[in-house]
Amino acid sequence: MRTQVVIIGAGPAGLMLSHLLHRQGVASLVLERRSVEYVLGRIRAGVLEQVTTDLLREIGVDAGMARDGLKHEGFCLALDGDMFRIDMHDLTGGKSVMVYGQTQVTKDLVEAFAARPGELIFGAENVTLHDIAGHAPSVTYEKDGRIHQVMCDYIAGCDGYHGVCRASLPAHAGRAFERAYPFGWLGILADVPPCHEELIYSNHERGFALASMRSPTRSRYYVQVPSDEDLAEWPDSRLWDELATRLGPEVAPCIQTGPSIEKSIAGLKSFVFEPMRYGKLFLAGDAAHIVPPTGAKGLNLAMSDVKLLSRALIARYAEGTETELEQYSARALARVWKAERFSWWFTSITHRFPTMDAFDRKMQMAELAYIRGSRAAQAVMAENYVGLPI
Ligand code: APR
Ligand code: PHB
Repeated sequence: MRTQVVIIGAGPAGLMLSHLLHRQGVASLVLERRSVEYVLGRIRAGVLEQVTTDLLREIGVDAGMARDGLKHEGFCLALDGDMFRIDMHDLTGGKSVMVYGQTQVTKDLVEAFAARPGELIFGAENVTLHDIAGHAPSVTYEKDGRIHQVMCDYIAGCDGYHGVCRASLPAHAGRAFERAYPFGWLGILADVPPCHEELIYSNHERGFALASMRSPTRSRYYVQVPSDEDLAEWPDSRLWDELATRLGPEVAPCIQTGPSIEKSIAGLKSFVFEPMRYGKLFLAGDAAHIVPPTGAKGLNLAMSDVKLLSRALIARYAEGTETELEQYSARALARVWKAERFSWWFTSITHRFPTMDAFDRKMQMAELAYIRGSRAAQAVMAENYVGLPI
């Protein structure tokens, strides 16, 4: 079989890339190792920047977002329960974010393949890349007991941090930059109304907490825990009590509790692989970079990568030039590093680090007090939160 672009991974990056290419007549095939149930069952974050909402509208997959998405024009920061608001809309000349779960985004993108049979394959095992530095790249995979080979011009590695694409690169192909954080996020999803109409990021002496939501009847909360924390130590009741403490006296009475429908601990990491291209292989999304979830940048970075990559591939087939493909890695990394910086900074001013001393804590408190009192500092924060231009 032959196609123009083989896309490895049916996460938001791979799915969106395939739809963007399809709209401009570029053929692609998406190969996903897992089942559709697995892909749609993952609970992830849910704050969409303008770049992401624009792409969903561009490919006509915005009905769900239009129906269930919550437009947020601000968010709150709290220091030991003392809360203040960042008015993004006012500080950025009218910009906002959309609260709409990544799980829902992925579902909408998968459903849009109903009109494109055979172009998205789940259960594609042992995906292997061939001749990625040569002139005849191809991909093989196993399905239904048979080995299938797909010849192509380019391969898009959208297979996440643990995928085969970056792992297939020779040692000299690039360099990784990494920072692991000495704590994790314990997240809970519950069918209870949110405690506040906007998100609350709380820096508390007992650790970070975040109040978020999926809808007016479904809430998502997180508390910072040690990275080796045992989930069994956190029955729902303990988690609700801890949230009330960390979110503070103003918010605590507004927290409606209920049974968790999902509860898990995720580690925090900053990771970037440079360059995001090797021969005919182009990396996008988590395959090339990871951000701590504090700034809600993971999905949005994956989307800005595929916006750039799709434009470059479309130009290649429409105009026969590889200029934009040659610029892809540098252009994508320029935005990636800024989002890495914002996510690392936001994490550093809102979390308790085990090695922190009293002076470090005072520095955090002073930084938050400065943001509270400075329109300029708030504007910097808002500009990064709504998403920097591509
Ligand atoms: N063969 C085929 N598919 C693979 C392979 C493989 N060897 N390895 C991984 N995959 C699939 C995974 O099963 C997953 O469905 O690639 C997909 C990668 O999807 P994501 O991890 O969601 O990555 P991406 O599309 O880049 O989305 C980034 O996801 O994790 C969040 O915070 C992150 O929001 C960000 C977004
Ligand atoms: C979420 O709703 O899951 C969420 C929101 C904002 C973040 C991280 C996660 O910064």
